[in-house]
Amino acid sequence: MKSSPTSHFPILISARSIQRRIPQLARLIQQAFANDPHWALISILNGSYVFLADLGRALHKRGLTPPIDFLALSSYGAGTRSSGRIRVERLFTLDIRNRNILVVDDILDSGRTLAQARNLLKARGARSVRVCVLLDKQTRRKVEGKADFAGFTIPDHFVAGYGLDRDGHFRNLPHIVDLDPPL
Ligand code: IMP
Ligand code: MG
Repeated sequence: MKSSPTSHFPILISARSIQRRIPQLARLIQQAFANDPHWALISILNGSYVFLADLGRALHKRGLTPPIDFLALSSYGAGTRSSGRIRVERLFTLDIRNRNILVVDDILDSGRTLAQARNLLKARGARSVRVCVLLDKQTRRKVEGKADFAGFTIPDHFVAGYGLDRDGHFRNLPHIVDLDPPL
């Protein structure tokens, strides 16, 4: 078999574990939003597109079909450490006034991206903002912020796959690889 370019990196979270965890997250989200006819989901691009696709379908299995829109924020450029500056690359068009919003992102790292998203959504009239991330690097937090729903807590390693990239690559892996494993 031809080896894939990521095959020498250890798998941190398998595709199976991710696929087992997502219905659990959907159940928790259902408990939080099922009685709210006006909630909406805002997905932070680019990293969350794979997670959103699976989570969205898991929500549908539980009878939930909220409006979904996208907010593209970028923090790094090509580096592997957050630059601290966050640019809005594309703004959602959904009218979010008085809605309870669930933000979906790939990973909570320093917390800056989600803090920025939260401020922006609040400034545009969101009634409340809750956050669902696939991965949580709890030890890296620079600004205050907790995920209301988190798939997995991971150590402070650079990871890729399942939507997360390194320089644009590896987003299409079905699992998460560890790009700085211990030597
Ligand atoms: P924060 O603003 O530092 O919390 O960074 C969050 C954003 O940085 C995420 O939405 C990701 O796009 C990116 N990011 C943080 N850690 C990683 C990683 O380990 N791999 C790939 N992207 C990451
Ligand atoms: Mg991202």
